[in-house]
Amino acid sequence: MNYNFDEIIDRRNTGAIKIERCKALYGSEDVLPLWVADMDFRTPDFIFEAIRERCEHPILGYSMPPKEFYPSLMNWISDHHQWEVKRSWIGFLPGIVPGLAFAVQSLTVPGDAVIVQPPVYYPFFHVVKNNNRELINNPLKLVNGKYEMDFEDLERKITPNTKLFILCNPHNPGGRVWPEETLKQLADICAKHNIIVVSDEIHADMVLDGHKHVPFAAVSESAARISLTFMAPSKTFNMPGLISSSYIIPNDVLRHKFVDFLEASELIGGNIFAYAATVAAYEKGEEWRKQMLDYVQGNIDYVVDFLKTNIPQIKPMYPEASFLVWLNCKELGMETDELFDFFARKAGLGLNKGTTFGPGGEYHLRLNVACSRLILKQAMEQLAKAVKERV
Ligand SMILES: Cc1ncc(COP(=O)(O)O)c(C=O)c1O
Repeated sequence: MNYNFDEIIDRRNTGAIKIERCKALYGSEDVLPLWVADMDFRTPDFIFEAIRERCEHPILGYSMPPKEFYPSLMNWISDHHQWEVKRSWIGFLPGIVPGLAFAVQSLTVPGDAVIVQPPVYYPFFHVVKNNNRELINNPLKLVNGKYEMDFEDLERKITPNTKLFILCNPHNPGGRVWPEETLKQLADICAKHNIIVVSDEIHADMVLDGHKHVPFAAVSESAARISLTFMAPSKTFNMPGLISSSYIIPNDVLRHKFVDFLEASELIGGNIFAYAATVAAYEKGEEWRKQMLDYVQGNIDYVVDFLKTNIPQIKPMYPEASFLVWLNCKELGMETDELFDFFARKAGLGLNKGTTFGPGGEYHLRLNVACSRLILKQAMEQLAKAVKERV
């Protein structure tokens, strides 16, 4: 079956954050919304079928995950990432960002230091600062147009107060798929200093051509011992509104601490539709996932080629995973706020402002290309026209 990713779907009046917040953020409801990291593609039919099937039963009572829930996740991880996960290591998590906050709350105390690697997905900062922990930035380095980890800076910044490291694997907004060697080195440093690593792997199933996702916990025994891994089908199968993710924690002591916190806060359950959709995604989603990634790859190539030919001042970072393209717009000669306004008001485009991702985000914008190619073409043409008129 060939899925149609060219389709343009009207998302107005569905409460879509991407649409609803445009006026407040970009000053107009008419910008093309290319920001929030969900897709404008139709959520696949097998997800709706699973939800409809559950609706056939007349009672929507308190429910446990179906018996297929954990095996479907374990098989998926084994098939896609060659990581053999034990049933006892896994549990349901009501969202990955909430999971990051629970990790901060359960594994550190106020005043402890938590390390993140900016530019990075901005809730990483919020879960640290809003819980009164000290935020330590270990900025990524740009080497030949790709982000790399700066281990010298990391070692310099670690103190006895440093308790947690939040890793984005693969990386958002840079789309980097971290090499095994990098993750091993990170694991060695963190293990040496007794730092727990929370690895956010929500983008793991969207690795693009020629790259391979490596789960942090799978790189070494010490990585397994010090880590919590969070995974979800929500981003890959375009169902983040259902809220379904899982934690994987091989170390019994760490897992008990984390789970005790979840239990004490009554945060252990999901909803029946999230359960049903998750099983359907993992059991029936492979073909759709492949076709979706082919389309996304085509969109990335289109944007990269278009910019090279028509707006060479904008340098995209070629993503190795996912549907987000990190645009370096420094050569347009504007400060970040001005750039953001220029994209919104002159080009009619709503992108994420680079500085929300922390240090290193200056002069950048993040573009979401998970939309119909027609929309993307319109976006690029609007941008080229605005840049031309400015000169
Ligand atoms: C790195 C990363 N983690 C987590 C999330 C969101 O996870 P959740 O919706 O499960 O809270 C996103 C969404 O963009 C993301 O990019």
